[in-house]
Amino acid sequence: MSAAAPAILVRDLRKSYGSFAAVQGIDFDVAPGEVFGLLGPNGAGKTSTVEILEGYRRRDGGIVSVLGHDPERRPRDLRRRIGIVLQSTGMYRHITVREALTHWARFYPQARDVQEVLTLAGLDEKADALARTLSGGQMRRLDFGLALVGDPELIFLDEPTTGFDPAARRAAWDVIRSLQDLGKTVLLTTHYLDEAQALCDRVAIIKEGRIVAEGPPAELGASSSRYRVTWRSPDTGRLETRETEDPTALLHQLTSAALARGEGLRDLSVTRPSLEDVYLELTAEPTSEEPANA
Ligand SMILES: Nc1ncnc2c1ncn2[C@@H]1O[C@H](COP(=O)(O)OP(=O)(O)OP(=O)(O)O)[C@@H](O)[C@H]1O
Ligand SMILES: [Mg+2]
Repeated sequence: MSAAAPAILVRDLRKSYGSFAAVQGIDFDVAPGEVFGLLGPNGAGKTSTVEILEGYRRRDGGIVSVLGHDPERRPRDLRRRIGIVLQSTGMYRHITVREALTHWARFYPQARDVQEVLTLAGLDEKADALARTLSGGQMRRLDFGLALVGDPELIFLDEPTTGFDPAARRAAWDVIRSLQDLGKTVLLTTHYLDEAQALCDRVAIIKEGRIVAEGPPAELGASSSRYRVTWRSPDTGRLETRETEDPTALLHQLTSAALARGEGLRDLSVTRPSLEDVYLELTAEPTSEEPANA
């Protein structure tokens, strides 16, 4: 990790809605230039966390620093240095796409060229359409464009590609990678684990308001001690799967049996759990029976 001050620092962050504890003491840092992903099931507390960092929600406890500022004070300097894709859309409805981007660009001292952002967001053909006439995915592209137009150094993307068609999603990935090449810091949430795997330097998996795992996507899978061995049974013709901490003996048994029969072993694979496997394992089972107390 870089020695520079973190772009985002979160310590023991807490947020409750009435008696419901949505965020129950989370800690993480995001280094400058890093793409950091928050993953977790619906209701895990991702948007609550992101909106606190953006200065849109107040926290109940903990320390938060964004580019050296406390976002709760909504400092002006900070607003000019961050860009945001909110989870809920529809900020502009009665003006055109180009007008919305132009308008938003005025809040930033060094905004990007609006035409360039229209192209980046894949909205050239809709530049002069009223925002309210856009399809869901096109509206989301506008949100994405709005986050980029100010050329901010830190960008919050809350489910930026939800509703995108596959080509638009890949295009958005390219844009996010280009942001990283420019040294920008990105905090994103996503339900697409391939997206997290493709884009994020590190991810944190949140469940019921707590971080249950954190690290580079590839290492989260590899840190698991289990291997998954899959092969096609010569008896039934079906795929068999077994999970084991040490596949050596199993592989020996399978290969020697196949050799003894004078056959190949079909469809053999030995894999480590993927990010998706780890995610499902960590988030599926209920952890505690205790009610979330206030
Ligand atoms: N304004 C609010 N009032 C009451 N409860 C809220 C409010 N905002 C969020 N919550 C609750 O807090 C919990 C966390 O919500 P949050 O939006 O942070 O989840 P999330 O991880 O972003 O989920 P999703 O993946 O569905 O976007 C949920 O149970 C939600 O119902
Ligand atoms: Mg959310």
